[in-house]
Order: sequence, then structure tokens, then C-alpha cells
Amino acid sequence: MSVFAADHEEVVFCHDPTSGLRAIIAIYSTALGPALGGTRFFPYEREEDALADVLNLAKSMAYKNAMAGLDHGGGKAVIWGDPGTDKTEALLRAYGRFVQSLGGRYITACDVGTYVEDMDIVARECRWVTGRSPEHGGCGDSSILTAWGVFQGMRATAEHLWGIPTLRGRRVGIAGIGKVGRHLLEHLRDDGASVLVADVSEQALAQARAIHPGVEVAEDTDALVGSDLDVYAPCALGAALDDWTVPRLRAKAVCGGANNQLAHAGIEKVLQDRGILYAPDYVVNSGGVIQVADEIEGFVFERAKAKATKIFDTTRRIFALAADEGVPPAVAADRLAERRMAEVGRLRTILLR
Ligand SMILES: NC(=O)c1ccc[n+]([C@@H]2O[C@H](COP(=O)([O-])OP(=O)(O)OC[C@H]3O[C@@H](n4cnc5c(N)ncnc54)[C@H](O)[C@@H]3O)[C@@H](O)[C@H]2O)c1
Repeated sequence: MSVFAADHEEVVFCHDPTSGLRAIIAIYSTALGPALGGTRFFPYEREEDALADVLNLAKSMAYKNAMAGLDHGGGKAVIWGDPGTDKTEALLRAYGRFVQSLGGRYITACDVGTYVEDMDIVARECRWVTGRSPEHGGCGDSSILTAWGVFQGMRATAEHLWGIPTLRGRRVGIAGIGKVGRHLLEHLRDDGASVLVADVSEQALAQARAIHPGVEVAEDTDALVGSDLDVYAPCALGAALDDWTVPRLRAKAVCGGANNQLAHAGIEKVLQDRGILYAPDYVVNSGGVIQVADEIEGFVFERAKAKATKIFDTTRRIFALAADEGVPPAVAADRLAERRMAEVGRLRTILLR
């Protein structure tokens, strides 16, 4: 999918040469409320790559927040640099001041390369931050409810395919056994599924083995994709479903936590033509944003979990609409998200005194 800056409400380039901060904040839409989305800290090769990523991610956040039923529009930020070497207090605080300068049009949180302790530092300069540590009144690690939501989406997928909302007796392949993948593995094991995992990091695999000594490990992601699976769960980076992977997939369904899984427009149709049921990524992985959005009200875990559990119903609704309208589930999800943004966003035209 090509996304152009012209589609977005606002794109801000932030530069603080002394701390080394180079960041881009993209606000796709505030139709439903302040734009909410995390900050990715990543060593992009070129500025164009950082820009393309943030534009895509901000748009996905608008659709994700709409489908999660939140009163938030979509935005995202990227910090261009290596989080291992470039992340300093001064850089994070400089970034916080740029977020603050937007006056609440954008609320930030964690993403790849940023952690709750980073948000605590950003919050020293900025009130528009969520996903802070529990010590600072925050909701902590959002991967807990992200994985819970993916599991709910997978239960709905199982119900649609096999008539019963459980993964018991099924074989699920998780590519990327990081924060989300590990929690998902636990839910699947508790539900009685057998799980095959793959990761490029030996450390991540060792952690998975430590938690679940019996877990089966594939040689690599390609081997996992070609394995005899019921469900494939991409839980690493984006574009997991591309022209190389989809023809090789042997799973009957795809449902995972990674953002922006569809490598390009049209790949959702290839999945459908191959008879593979795709649970739209931004729907099933919205548990994390539900968790951080709850922090804005004063975090109550059970309330946020109850909301994330509804991902089961939302996924069901998307599969039903897709069947009714004869479109892939990704298209059905987009239609529902756009409908909510238009119907609820329109209410702002009613003038208040
Ligand atoms: N953490 C959240 O709350 C959250 C919320 C929504 C979406 N997501 C998305 O879920 C995905 C995972 O997030 P996370 O928080 O678990 O990140 P993470 O960094 O903790 O884990 C990602 C894992 O993927 C592995 N990996 C990277 N490239 C790989 C490859 N080619 N093959 C196999 N493994 C690979 C990494 O080694 C790492 O272990 C990301 O796409 C993220 O944007 C996360």
C-alpha cells in the first residue's frame, strides 16, 4: 500500500542537533480524538525509509484505534537512530518537548526500540505520554494485552474455520518470540495447542525454552512457514505476508501480533484465493493500544482486559461482513474502520456552545 504525506493531517520533522535527535511525527487523523500511537526507535538507512514507515504506521493506527472502539485518531512517531547507542536522556527529553509542542494532538507510547522507562523520561518534558511504568502511574508493558487480544482473534478464527473457539489440538507457528510472541505462546499452551516457534535471536529462543522447555523450534522462519500448521502467527516485524511467503504457507489461517503484515495491496486477495483466512493485523493486535489508552483514564487492568477480550467479537464481525460482501477480511475491516471514522468523526460538525 502506498501512503503519501498528503493523506495525513500533519507531519512534523523534529531536529535537535546537540542531542542528535532526528524524529518524524505523523498524524494521520484526529477525526475520533487525539492521535495515539507509539514511538519507534530504529536505525533506518535513509530518511525516506523513516518517512515511509511513519506514514504507514500512523495510518494503521487510525484504523486500529477506530476498530478498537477508542476515542483516538491515529498517529505515530519514529526516531531515526540506533536505540542501542543513540538513546540518551537528552535525546528522549528533546523528543518529549517536540511532542509537547503539538499540544495534545498526538499522544505517544512505546513501540519497537522504546520501553516504559523511556516513556518515563519523555514524560518529564511532556504530558502527552502513555505506556509509562507502573511506578509512575503507568500501565506498564503493553505486550501483555496485545498478546491477549491476538489470542482472542485466533479463537474467533478457529471458530470460523472449525466451529469451536479454541486452539486445542491445533498447531500454531509463531514467528518472532519476543514480548508479544512469548505471551501468546503461554495462552496457546494453556488452551491446549501445540506451538512451533522461530526467531533470529538465540537469546529470544533461549527465553522461550526457559519458560516452556518442551517448545518446538523451527530452523528458521522460512522452515516455519513451510511447516504443517493450522495457524501462522507473525509476531516479528512488518511485511511478513509477501509474494514469497504466501504461496509457501501451509497454514489455514494467519493471525499474529506484527503490525503491517500485508507487504503490498492485493496480497490479501492472494491469501483469500489460496483459502487462507487472514485475521486483520490491526484488529487482533489492538490490545496494546487499548492498554495504553486506558492509562489516560487512570489504568485499571481488568477494565482494559475486558475491552481487549472484545477483539473476539470484532474479529467475528469482520469475518461475517467479509462473507456477506464477498471481500477479503482485510477489506471488510477497512470498511468498518472508515465507517466509524466518518460516522463518529462527523459529530464534531455539531457546534457546541
Ligand atoms: N508490544 C506491543 O504491545 C505491540 C502492540 C501491537 C503490535 N506490536 C507488533 O508486534 C510485533 C512484535 O512486537 P514485540 O513487542 O514482541 O517486539 P520484540 O522486539 O519484543 O519481539 C520481536 C521478535 O522478533 C524477532 N525477529 C525479528 N526479525 C525476525 C525474523 N525475520 N524472523 C523471526 N524473528 C524475528 C526478534 O528477534 C524479537 O525476538 C512488532 O511488529 C510490533 O510492532 C507490538
